[in-house]
Amino acid sequence: MNSVPDAVQSTAKSAATMTRSENLRAPFMQEDVDAYLYELLPKRDPVLVEIEAYADRHRVPIIGPAVARLLSFLVQTGGAKRIFEMGSAIGYSTIWLARAAGPQAEIFYTDGDPENARRAQDYFRRAGVAKRIRVQTGDALDLLKKSSGKFDAIFIDVNKHQYPEALRVALPKLKKGGLILTDNTLWSGKAARPVAPDDKDTHGIQEFNRLIYSSKDLYPVLIPLRDGFTVARKL
Ligand SMILES: C[S@@+](CC[C@H](N)C(=O)[O-])C[C@H]1O[C@@H](n2cnc3c(N)ncnc32)[C@H](O)[C@@H]1O
Repeated sequence: MNSVPDAVQSTAKSAATMTRSENLRAPFMQEDVDAYLYELLPKRDPVLVEIEAYADRHRVPIIGPAVARLLSFLVQTGGAKRIFEMGSAIGYSTIWLARAAGPQAEIFYTDGDPENARRAQDYFRRAGVAKRIRVQTGDALDLLKKSSGKFDAIFIDVNKHQYPEALRVALPKLKKGGLILTDNTLWSGKAARPVAPDDKDTHGIQEFNRLIYSSKDLYPVLIPLRDGFTVARKL
């Protein structure tokens, strides 16, 4: 006998058959469970929807709405106001950070591609958060080193082979009690498996994970959401 109510069955079916881009997928999770997780999410406002569609069409990697909610949740509960983002692309995660941190926030957008920065600035204006965001182009690690003062939170989303160095640069720039937030720390599950010697990105992720879990200065948790997301608090 089938005891599952019709409504539940139809939700599960639509979740399983929904088409999702690479930005909305955990490659190591069962497809229907992963789809269900995205079906639960509330609709985003038109600017975020437009960025999600642009990222999908042009294969721009963004954190997507499930990880963005976690980012937003951590910023809100931690009360972070001064936030440095390393690798901001077209500003999707930056908008979530700026909204979560509120009108008094100071968010540093950084990206190596000036064209990304131009597009992001247009989205910031339309999302009503431009005044809270400082846009800088160049190498995010250099920009963080040169920045003045310390931060409540630092979000790492640069090239994956740079993750160990990004962590070394970020730690002294973080306030005590502050958060280091890092995307892609399972790297499609490759972080957990033997890796080819020339796969610099996977080596970078594995070394980052080893470093962050062996640090005496940080308390990390790797959350297996989408591509893996690590939150670490500075002790
Ligand atoms: C994964 S995307 C960032 C996505 C963004 N955080 C989001 O979720 O909306 C990575 C971006 O980082 C930039 N990038 C990679 N390494 C960088 C570096 N060392 N310095 C500055 N930008 C970098 C790339 O140009 C790319 O736009």
